[in-house]
Amino acid sequence: MNAHIAVLPGDGIGPEVTAAAVAVLRGVAGQAFAFTEHAIGGCAIDATGDPLPAATVEACRAADAVLLGAVGGPKWSDPNAPVRPEQGLLALRATLGVYANLRPLRVHPRLAALSPLKAEHLHGVDLVFVRELTGGAYFGRKTREGDVAVDECRYSVAEVERVVRRACELARARRGRLTSVDKANVLETSRLWRATTERIARDYPDVTLEHQLVDSMAMLLLTRPSAYDVIVTENLFGDILTDEAAALAGSLGVSPSASLGDGRRGLYEPIHGSAPDIAGRGVANPIGAILSAALLLRHSLGLDAEAAAVEAAVDAVLDEAELTADLGGHATTQQVTDAVLDRLAARRKVAA
Ligand code: NAD
Ligand code: IPM
Ligand code: MN
Repeated sequence: MNAHIAVLPGDGIGPEVTAAAVAVLRGVAGQAFAFTEHAIGGCAIDATGDPLPAATVEACRAADAVLLGAVGGPKWSDPNAPVRPEQGLLALRATLGVYANLRPLRVHPRLAALSPLKAEHLHGVDLVFVRELTGGAYFGRKTREGDVAVDECRYSVAEVERVVRRACELARARRGRLTSVDKANVLETSRLWRATTERIARDYPDVTLEHQLVDSMAMLLLTRPSAYDVIVTENLFGDILTDEAAALAGSLGVSPSASLGDGRRGLYEPIHGSAPDIAGRGVANPIGAILSAALLLRHSLGLDAEAAAVEAAVDAVLDEAELTADLGGHATTQQVTDAVLDRLAARRKVAA
């Protein structure tokens, strides 16, 4: 049976980069996928009043995997708006139960020169963030009474356990080092996070656990990024630290993510947003979305060889092809996508 991939292009550059990722999935050797497109975010608000229409949820539930572009933009960003595109994305993550958001980061040698850090600090950077995705301040009770606003930050032991286990498994399969990031010197949720992490990590004697406070982690990511392997943290800290880390790789536009729950179905999206400043011009970097498609092949469809082929094709493009403007080049989204497709086709010929 063909795998069914639900595609949610969203807003801004979302449709541009998901089209690139779909083209690459279509170009992957010998695999036939069925794609269906559904509305989410600002465009869904415009069409239906709801940032996550019921039909979109149904399609995602029925799919083997979900590929998403980005949501949001100035049109829907009025602080007094009754409904926002981002609410659709958060509701989708919660509905699909994808509590573990994997955000890998490697710094390609050619991009090291574009990083704000000196290239020698970036040698050997190879880390994965595991960001808790369905709890914390994002999902706590929100109130606004007069001059006072409250965002409750709440975590249960069970919510911490499941994401930390996922991080321990990942560390075990990699270099065996786990860094847990919290603010245990101040926050009660962080103290629960730290105690739970210590207890779960005891089941993984082959994994070395260290704790870092989030403020010093923000600094350490810039001063010794190659020292880290797997970094697990709560939702809001993970959101902030992963954009910081993405900048080390030269651009927000190259970082992918996989959001996973207990089943095989996952939600795959680049970590960047809808980039309203460049939307509609055909110049967005498609690499974050294309690498998200590779994660989809690996984690939801079990197509490891195909995932590796896409990653190798992207590496080859980063080695030698003209890149998009965020990476100092002049290429369009389409040209970079075609370059990836060319490398994929060339690899298939060699393999045949
Ligand atoms: P952003 O990630 O959209 O853009 C930040 C900067 O990075 C911009 O200068 C943009 O041009 C650049 N950039 C981002 N992706 C790029 C790409 N693929 N190629 C080239 N350049 C790229 O963040 P923002 O401007 O803070 O947010 C814009 C909107 O996106 C907001 O409404 C926000 O809520 C939303 N957002 C959505 C998601 C998501 O859907 N997953 C993620 C982050 C932000
Ligand atoms: C991300 C984004 C989202 C988040 C927003 C758009 C809700 O910034 O995926 O990193 O904060 O999780
Ligand atoms: Mn973010």
